[in-house]
Amino acid sequence: MHEYDLGKHMNMNNTAIPQVLITTLQQATHVVVFTGAGVSAESGVPTFRDAQTGLWERFDAEQLATIEAFLNDKELVWGWYEWRRMQVMRAQPNPAHLSIAALASLVPKLTVITQNVDDLHERAGSAQVLHLHGSLLSPRCFDCGQACTPPIAIPDEPAGGRRLSPPICLHCGGTVRPGVVWFGEELPVRELRRANASAKDCDLLFSIGTSSLVYPAAEIPNLAKQAGAKIVQINPEKTPLDTDATWSFRGPAGVVLPDLLSAAYPEGGCAP
Ligand code: OAD
Repeated sequence: MHEYDLGKHMNMNNTAIPQVLITTLQQATHVVVFTGAGVSAESGVPTFRDAQTGLWERFDAEQLATIEAFLNDKELVWGWYEWRRMQVMRAQPNPAHLSIAALASLVPKLTVITQNVDDLHERAGSAQVLHLHGSLLSPRCFDCGQACTPPIAIPDEPAGGRRLSPPICLHCGGTVRPGVVWFGEELPVRELRRANASAKDCDLLFSIGTSSLVYPAAEIPNLAKQAGAKIVQINPEKTPLDTDATWSFRGPAGVVLPDLLSAAYPEGGCAP
């Protein structure tokens, strides 16, 4: 694994981007971008496991992110996810999301797979994003599964949210739940199948802003590697993927990705 620390002093001449990576990107026929919470961190959306700011550092996942938690206290859980939805609605895509969207027109085929429940990839311009952990913007009925329109936004939610009654399903009268995947739940079958197939088919995979700790999603870069793809990791911190990554960039995605694109596509690959 080649490691590059790009966090503090970003070069404007792209000298830290290895030529072999630039060539690999330019010659790739299918690129997969696999993202986690870190890709949205520079948009102000908190990650889960970063020290102090991570959601699971401040809130108890067992009380908020399981079916049992929802059944035990629907108002607490619904209010917490609505608070997170409001955070996402206020956030804007950052240069990492924009670079990923720009990459789609620079390579023959790009598949974006995310563990994130925000819509910042889509708002940056990425199409057909595979959401492995669902979406904050797609609530559905707990009982019948019918998709429901999210309630009108409440602009000034207190940090951590407040108790809120979930809406009632117009279809069956059941209770609406957040459209995210909770601990202990299966990942959406169609998305996971497509993500796995893309991983096995690609020749270059970017793993960006994920701690690589949560399975089965964390298996995706390994599937790509086993199928012969090269792996690029972008993360300011060490992760378990370090040993399998071909290149690891220790820096923020919103800095590293635009620089990588401008190195590989000097005629105009840089995100706005
Ligand atoms: P984590 O919070 O576990 O990891 C976020 C990663 O992003 C960390 O490794 C950070 O070092 C890195 N990071 C922080 N800022 C960054 C930046 N500016 N650029 C690049 N990387 C940065 O989030 P995930 O790996 O996405 O699941 O977590 C996986 C799953 O665990 C989530 O989808 C969620 C959570 O529990 C469910 O809710 C089911």
